[in-house]
Amino acid sequence: MRSVRPGTISAAFADASANAPDSRTRDMLVSLATALHDFVIKTQLSNDEWRAGIAALARAGETSGDARNEFSLLSDMLGISSLVNMISAQESATPSSVLGPFHQRRAPKLPNGGDLWKGQPGEVLVMTGGVFDAATGEPVAGATLDLWQNADNGLYAAQDSQQRGRNYHGILRTDAQGRYAFTTTRPVPYTVPTDGVAGEMLRLLGREAWRPAHLHVIVEAKGYHQIVTELFPDDDPWLDRDAAFAVREELVIHFERCSDKGAMPDWLEARDRLPPEFLTGSMKFYIAPKTRTLERPT
Ligand SMILES: [Fe+2]
Repeated sequence: MRSVRPGTISAAFADASANAPDSRTRDMLVSLATALHDFVIKTQLSNDEWRAGIAALARAGETSGDARNEFSLLSDMLGISSLVNMISAQESATPSSVLGPFHQRRAPKLPNGGDLWKGQPGEVLVMTGGVFDAATGEPVAGATLDLWQNADNGLYAAQDSQQRGRNYHGILRTDAQGRYAFTTTRPVPYTVPTDGVAGEMLRLLGREAWRPAHLHVIVEAKGYHQIVTELFPDDDPWLDRDAAFAVREELVIHFERCSDKGAMPDWLEARDRLPPEFLTGSMKFYIAPKTRTLERPT
C-alpha cells in the first residue's frame, strides 16, 4: 500500500477492509468510499473545497439535536431519502414518500371517523377511503393510519408554541370493511428550515425551499409491509418543484368542494359541525403482504 495512486486508492481501501466482521457493512462502506474517491477525481477537488465541505458537515452536526436533524434534512434536499423510498417500494403497493422530520412516535389514538380539525382555522377537509391488500384487492380490517400534517399557518405542532404538542397528529384504525374517515383542515405548502447547511446548499444551487402541501400517513397492518407516504392536493403550485423530490403521481389527489353534509359517512364524528362548504378527498391505500414476493420496481 506504499505506492497508492488516484487510480488505486479505492482498491487499497477495499483491501484494507477485507477483515470487516459484517460483509454488508463492508460492502456499503467500500462502495461509499469508492463513490467519494470517484467524486474527488471527477471534480478535481481542491484543498480549499475539501475544507469547506468538512466545515459544512461540522456545522450540520452543531445544529442537530433532539428537535432537529440537519443531516436528515440534507438527505431530503439531496434526494437521498426519496431514492431510498423508491428502491425499497413494493410493486403494486401505494408508493412511499419521505417521512420528514415531524413524525411523532406514539401519536394519540384517533377514533375512526374522528376529528383532527377541532374547529381550528383553515379549509375543512373530510378524508375518506380504505386500505386494501395489494395482492388480492381485499380490504384490510384493523390497519392503522398514523396521520400528521401542518396547521393552516404552515407550522407543525413541534414548531409552534401556539399549538398543543400533538395537534394534527393521530392514529386511527380501519373498520371491518377496511374503511377510514376523518376530518382535518387542508394542509398548506411550507418552506423547510433554511438557516442551516441544507439551506446554504439550496441557496448555492439557486433552489427554493418550498414543499407542496401534503398529508403524512404511515399505513401499517400485521403481516404487511409498512408504507410511509404523503398525499398531495392536485392544485398545489409546488407539486413540480418539491424541494424533497417526494411527489409521485399516484399520491396526488383531488379535493372536491362539497356542501352536502348528509353525503358524508354517518360515523363521521364532526359531521353535524361541518361548515356550509367544505372539501372532500379520498385515497385507497394498497399494502403488500409479507408472505408473497412481489416484484420490485426497476
Ligand atoms: Fe411535512
